[in-house]
Amino acid sequence: MATYIVLLGPPGAGKGTQAKILAQTTNLAHISSGDLFRENITNQTELGKLAKSYMDKGELVPDDITIAMVRERITRSDCKNGAIVDGFPRTPIQADAFEKILDGLGAAVTAVPYVTAAEAVLIERTGGRWSCRAQGHIYHKKFNPPKQEGICDIDGSELYQRDDDKEETVAKRIRVYLERTMPLVEYYRKRGKLIEINGVQPVEQVTKELLAALK
Ligand code: AP5
Repeated sequence: MATYIVLLGPPGAGKGTQAKILAQTTNLAHISSGDLFRENITNQTELGKLAKSYMDKGELVPDDITIAMVRERITRSDCKNGAIVDGFPRTPIQADAFEKILDGLGAAVTAVPYVTAAEAVLIERTGGRWSCRAQGHIYHKKFNPPKQEGICDIDGSELYQRDDDKEETVAKRIRVYLERTMPLVEYYRKRGKLIEINGVQPVEQVTKELLAALK
């Protein structure tokens, strides 16, 4: 059966960083709802324009739009063995819909690592984040600087600061996370899928704990 790992946690906890490493280590696809929206914004699609209007305010994109986007993404061939899913689901409605989508594929959520970090850490991390324009590789000016300022080590593309990483937008995103996404902690705990991971450790240590917990 295909493997679907859902990474849960607040903005800046390190989900994207860990998802990219886990996808490489496990040979599973990486599905990031945030990256999918950002690709659409870059390509100036209708979905991108709509998503941007919510993202810039730190709000969630409506469930039906997000679910339809992930439903399409999961049918692509790189997901045949499963995926590391980061940023989705983010509401109980999305979680129920995801269960149905996977059920239709004869699969289910395998495990849900919940990466935790205190608010001050989230603000420091998002405030210093640099993302790569081409493929979303993630850096931090202090914790994970690129070799050459402003340039991605991996694909040489430009690094930029996300519009939604302004301090006031991050504060809003954290509030939205607490109200709308936190209920998923209990949702997956009740289903016996939740694995708590301390995100306030060096990246390599977080990866080590994730891999050990997922074995
Ligand atoms: P999305 O892109 O999903 O953002 P997020 O969930 O808020 O998470 P982030 O990407 O900010 O953080 P992360 O946990 O991935 O941390 P990262 O690894 O980058 O969503 C953006 C927006 O899109 C939402 O606000 C919403 O509008 C919309 N959206 C997306 N999905 C949606 C959905 N399902 N439904 C509705 N709307 C949706 O790390 C952060 C920084 O810390 C980096 O600089 C990194 O280098 C550094 N770092 C990482 N780990 C460590 C470590 N262990 N030690 C030190 N530094 C570290």
